[in-house]
Formats: sequence, C-alpha cells, structure tokens
Amino acid sequence: MKLKDKAVLITGSGSGLGREMGLLFAVEGARVGINDIRPEAAQNVTTEIQRAGGVATAFVADVASSAAVKQMFSDFLAAYGTIDVLINNAGIARTRQSDQQVLLATTDLTDDDWHKMLATHLDATFYCTREALKTMIPASRGRIINIGSIAGTAGLPFASHYCAAKGGIISFTKSVALEVAKHGILVNAIAPGFIETPMTALLTAEAREWVIRSTPAGRLGQPRDIAAAALYLASDDSSFMVGQVVSPNGGWTTA
Ligand SMILES: NC(=O)c1ccc[n+]([C@@H]2O[C@H](COP(=O)([O-])OP(=O)(O)OC[C@H]3O[C@@H](n4cnc5c(N)ncnc54)[C@H](O)[C@@H]3O)[C@@H](O)[C@H]2O)c1
Repeated sequence: MKLKDKAVLITGSGSGLGREMGLLFAVEGARVGINDIRPEAAQNVTTEIQRAGGVATAFVADVASSAAVKQMFSDFLAAYGTIDVLINNAGIARTRQSDQQVLLATTDLTDDDWHKMLATHLDATFYCTREALKTMIPASRGRIINIGSIAGTAGLPFASHYCAAKGGIISFTKSVALEVAKHGILVNAIAPGFIETPMTALLTAEAREWVIRSTPAGRLGQPRDIAAAALYLASDDSSFMVGQVVSPNGGWTTA
C-alpha cells in the first residue's frame, strides 16, 4: 500500500476525477475526506468507499467560501488528527444553470460568471492550501496536488474565465512549491486533457468531435489516468517533484 494511514482531503470528490482519486487512495490505505458542495454526492462516494472496505468521511462544504473551508479543516482535523495530502480538485465548467453556455465569448461573460469561476477554482485552492499549510508546516511534511488543466497551459477558446482560473492555479502551485519545499512539503499540479466525467458530458457532439480530432491519442482520457498521476504525486515515489505540472493529456498541444 502506497498511502497506508495517510489522511487525505480531496475537494469536489463527490463526482468524476475526485471520486476516482478517493476510491484509489482508499485502496492504497489512505483515510479519505470526501468533500463536495452537494451533500448527497459526498455521502454516496463515502458510502461506496466504506462498502469496499476503505476509510472515508464526508465533509460537505463550499470551498469557494473562506469561512466554510476553515470549518471543513477543523472538522477534518477533529476526525483524522492531521492532514498528509490535500488535493484541490473541486471545479465547474459552467457558471449558469442552462446547458447552452459551457462555451462563452469573453464579451458575453458577466462579472458574476467571472467571479464565480475564479472563486470556485482559484480562491478555493488558496483557501484550502492556506489551511493545510497551518498543519503541514509544523509537521514538516505534506503533499498538495492542485488540479489545473490544459486550459491553463495551452488555453481553450471561449473559456477565458476557466483558462484564467486554471492558469492561476498553475502559477500559484509553482510559487507555493518554492516557498514550502524547505519544510518537506511538496506542491505540484496535474493538468489533465479532456477526461470522461460528468463535466465533459456537457460537451455538445460537435465539441466532442473537435476534442477527439485534437487529441493525438484519438479519445478522451479516463478518470483512472488522472487518479494514477495523483497517486504518484501523493506517494513516496515522487519525493523529488517540486512545483511541477504533470499533464496526462493524450498528446494535446492545440491552443
Ligand atoms: N473532466 C475533464 O476533462 C477535466 C479536464 C481538466 C481539468 N478538470 C478539472 O478537474 C476537476 C474535477 O472535474 P471533473 O471532471 O471530475 O468534474 P465533475 O463535475 O465530475 O466533479 C466536480 C465536483 O466538484 C464539486 N464542486 C463544484 N463546486 C464546488 C465547491 N464550490 N465546493 C465543493 N465542491 C464543489 C461538484 O459538486 C462536483 O461533484 C475540476 O477542477 C476540473 O476543472 C477536468
């Protein structure tokens, strides 16, 4: 087991990539915190892990709220005593409820669209990292894995708010990594290409074809591809990785 007894908090793990990481990490012996803003989603994944024999607890919180994140960390530390690994994964592709606007021209973005996207990804990553470091620095160990995207490295058209949020996460990762490496804390990012999750189920048939055409591997990735990269970054196997961006992306290079 690569993560025996490690206390791991994964934000937005009631679905998709976070769920897959939770399942895999539990099999590797971790005690997993399943955070989601949707209580039922957090509870379902927690139950799924427990039924498979793993250790998991649900932590319902909106990670875009500084106060909610503080409370979540207090609850997490009360439950598990420490935090060894934080994965900042929670995310959204759309800022409004209608299906029509996954892709939005920059001129059509409202202030609310912009702020909601930045808050959910970038503010949340900062709030959770700040809280985790308060425990990890005195403990002189820890891992933080931030989920970026090829949207933050290569850019994607009609998603400038999402790309700005993901690009911000990648730069934040590099900075914090340099700041805390001397404390034995390793901070890295994963920048997935397009992966089959409920998030990409929102793509229109036309957008999906464009994604497949633009991906040399000729398909979308699977959540397991990202969970395997996260396991590597969380385990002793990656002890010399500092401020890196690991990008399982099927060969994607298109801007
Ligand atoms: N699927 C992809 O192709 C892909 C590619 C690159 C990056 N990503 C990123 O990976 C992460 C996970 O995406 P996914 O594909 O699994 O999506 P998903 O929609 O399946 O899961 C995201 C989860 O985050 C939760 N969430 C959203 N806002 C939250 C908040 N404020 N507080 C707590 N939880 C919140 C949602 O309820 C949901 O359960 C996201 O950051 C996403 O941007 C996904």
